Amino acid sequence: MNILALAGSLRKASFNKSLLRAAQDLSGDEMDIEIIDLADIPLFNADLESDKDPDAVANFKDAIRNADGVLIASPEYNHGMTGVTKNAIDWASRPPKDAPLAGKPVGILGASPGVTGTARSQDQLRQCLKSINAHCMSLPEFLLFRAREKFDEKGTLTDETSAKHLQKYLNAFAGWVKKFS
Ligand SMILES: Cc1cc2nc3c(=O)[nH]c(=O)nc-3n(C[C@H](O)[C@H](O)[C@H](O)COP(=O)(O)O)c2cc1C
Repeated sequence: MNILALAGSLRKASFNKSLLRAAQDLSGDEMDIEIIDLADIPLFNADLESDKDPDAVANFKDAIRNADGVLIASPEYNHGMTGVTKNAIDWASRPPKDAPLAGKPVGILGASPGVTGTARSQDQLRQCLKSINAHCMSLPEFLLFRAREKFDEKGTLTDETSAKHLQKYLNAFAGWVKKFS
């Protein structure tokens, strides 16, 4: 199955990007995870979509349409999802009658250096995806707290317990995606 993964952080050394790379490494033969870079996605502006979508947006929406499922790893900023995450979702919710994210199985995960591991951002993200009728997996959840202690300086997930949890999460997500295929 083809999974599109996006990180709601543009930072080079982002823990959330590293988390998605760890997911790529841990995903078994049945799952192929492609990570899309959101750096070229402009801020949503309805004027920009009135003619045709900007190229980066069109590519992003096609990638979602072609994927069997979507993984979103968003950092938490000020107790919510990042603007990068929300902006990507807003684009992917258009047009409302044929939204690329509508009906897609979605898995939410996140990493933060603090102790709450993106819990609040994940809740907000779930609520937001409900409005597009994306099918968010409720359980298991994956929250990586104290991220600084769990990755090495190259961004490799070195914490074995977290890697095991991530593996279990991915197995569950594969099952979730199958339900909608
Ligand atoms: C504007 C801003 C607000 C933040 N607010 C939170 C927060 O509410 N909760 C939290 O756990 N971390 C917060 N952080 C810390 C982020 O979790 C941390 O910067 C994290 O590394 C961002 O994810 P990334 O490594 O994928 O870029 C905040 C960081 C910034 C820049």
